[in-house]
Amino acid sequence: MTAPMLPSRLPIAAAPMAGGPTTTALAAAVAEAGGFPFLAGGYKTPEALSAEISVMRAAGLPFGVNLFVPAPETVDAAAFRAYARQLQPEAERYGLTLSEQPMNDDDSWGQKLALLIQDPVDVVSLTFGLPEPSDIVALHASGTKVLASVTTPAEARQAQAAGVDGLVVQGSQAGGHSATFDPNRRIDPVSTADLVKAVRAAAGLPIIAAGGVDSPAAVQALLAAGAEAVAVGTLLLLADEAGTSPTHRAALTGGKFSETVLTRAFTGRPARALRNGFAVRHGAHAPAAYPAVHHLTRELRQAAGKAGDADTLHLWAGTGWRNAPRLPAAEIIEWLSGTENAVQ
Ligand SMILES: Cc1cc2nc3c(=O)[nH]c(=O)nc-3n(C[C@H](O)[C@H](O)[C@H](O)COP(=O)(O)O)c2cc1C
Repeated sequence: MTAPMLPSRLPIAAAPMAGGPTTTALAAAVAEAGGFPFLAGGYKTPEALSAEISVMRAAGLPFGVNLFVPAPETVDAAAFRAYARQLQPEAERYGLTLSEQPMNDDDSWGQKLALLIQDPVDVVSLTFGLPEPSDIVALHASGTKVLASVTTPAEARQAQAAGVDGLVVQGSQAGGHSATFDPNRRIDPVSTADLVKAVRAAAGLPIIAAGGVDSPAAVQALLAAGAEAVAVGTLLLLADEAGTSPTHRAALTGGKFSETVLTRAFTGRPARALRNGFAVRHGAHAPAAYPAVHHLTRELRQAAGKAGDADTLHLWAGTGWRNAPRLPAAEIIEWLSGTENAVQ
């Protein structure tokens, strides 16, 4: 099996997982096993991202970097305030007072871009939208391939028009944030295989398929649908090298949860998570205001994580979560690629 778009032996990528799960140890193990890892640049300081790049480079392993594209934010101040008030009783349990002032930031986009232009990597994948065309031109001028994450054929056409080299096509079964360009959009259920076929018909770019992969057969089905490579996130959450928090790990393995749900409750952007109490209590009320809601709930989620409170933490998970193996990452990649009959 080969993956022309990615410089790896196997057509399997480790999806970027910001917020802890992606570590350089995970990325290195995936790369050593022949897969292609993405470092998660989102939420990190430019310095921390730079340090991770140095680690991968020193190890001589192939890798890409994922960044969040900032979007012009339009926060409905009244809706935000109402949501902050609704969440205050949750915060009170941890002695926290939530600010009713929406906080915005661009995730240090300009500095991270400058870093990647000064110190280029093979592949940069973008999520949450498209940057200025000049940013794509600048990455290209540094010799970097640029991939855009898309969730519809229309987004794929926009990305193609913007000049990207390939697409990460993310189906609605994916764990974590939807890459949708429009956080107000209702994410209709679409299988990743069907979306790959629709995007292929809409845009003639190479595709990495992501979302809902739960087995080697699912990898094969996505390759058969026309993807050049398949990215997995959830199936790596319990890998030995993943930085997934103990509370998140326990929730994925403990038998308390029975399904996942797409919800804006935690960050203001649709994201797939285990359906816990917080998602149930607040999902219908959360405004589509990212990153304002992310900042609003951040300390609360951190406190919940520390306290082992799985009812309040954002437990990102795709629909394949029950099959996430508790194994070294290399064995998970080998299992997925069909090169070894690893047991779960
Ligand atoms: C914990 C977690 C964190 C994620 N963080 C990011 C991220 O930083 N950037 C991104 O583009 N996608 C992120 N995603 C989405 C993945 O890149 C990918 O689309 C998804 O994991 C694929 O679906 P699967 O989880 O069913 O394998 C995240 C997913 C999870 C589960």
